[in-house]
Amino acid sequence: MPEDKWSRWLNEERWGDQAGPFQAALNSVRDRILGLAELKPGATVVDLGAGTGLLGLQAARQAKREGTVVLVDVSRDSLASAQSDANVGCERFAVGDALHLPLISGWADAVVIRSVLIYIPDRLAAAHEIARVLRPGGRFVAYEPINRRMEQIVDMTGFEDVRDAYQAAMDKNTLTNFAEDDLVEAFRGAGFTSVEIVEDDSRFPVRGKEWAHGFRYGAPAGYNAFDMLLTARISPERADEFLGHGERLLGDEWRVWRCPCVYLIAVR
Ligand SMILES: C[S@@+](CC[C@H](N)C(=O)[O-])C[C@H]1O[C@@H](n2cnc3c(N)ncnc32)[C@H](O)[C@@H]1O
Repeated sequence: MPEDKWSRWLNEERWGDQAGPFQAALNSVRDRILGLAELKPGATVVDLGAGTGLLGLQAARQAKREGTVVLVDVSRDSLASAQSDANVGCERFAVGDALHLPLISGWADAVVIRSVLIYIPDRLAAAHEIARVLRPGGRFVAYEPINRRMEQIVDMTGFEDVRDAYQAAMDKNTLTNFAEDDLVEAFRGAGFTSVEIVEDDSRFPVRGKEWAHGFRYGAPAGYNAFDMLLTARISPERADEFLGHGERLLGDEWRVWRCPCVYLIAVR
């Protein structure tokens, strides 16, 4: 059976041939999330939308054998990949949806997330479900990019149709239809006693080549910026033309690409 789309994207497509700097950037996001979650040995932790295990496998090293870390994801193949890297003994794996977590109420000391709320259209329902599985006083920590403010589009001169299409598509894509206030509102609405956000920037080194790769593969099929243009009636040929233009414009010089992001810390 072919790998599912999430696993294929996580394992093969997302970085092109520049995995090193991206993995280093993700490791630092991971360490910050887990630090904010204040995990102790013996902790009960959920890594929601765990993918190939970025957060959950490291959380297991902190919770140690006496803890339990449940990695939940809709992607069976991503979890299989995470399971093959697990080495503490307290990791558990569950295929499941964020809106129906396979956990009893009040079980978790902490729920951690990286870049998952962006894929969930009903973020208030997700916040309620996270509140359900946390014990009173339990901590939720998420990192989410605010793609609405990402500098996706380079020089639009001569591509006003592309710019307008991208703007129109933003409100229809879960990756781009929200800002930090919407996240805060969802978690307050779900009854968390405190909800705090820390604004930051993720920074990635790019040349034209990496920018073009990110435009097409920065998210799985159906979500990425290239597919947003197609859903907004830009032809594949025109989208390719735009991508080629942007790539040539940025050229071979390395620069730092900024993506606004937030850490959200909520206490149940
Ligand atoms: C950007 S990846 C992040 C993976 C992992 N957290 C990481 O940091 O590498 C998003 C993950 O969310 C998962 N996902 C998307 N929608 C989901 C849902 N409704 N419930 C659970 N997982 C979901 C995907 O399968 C994917 O593994």
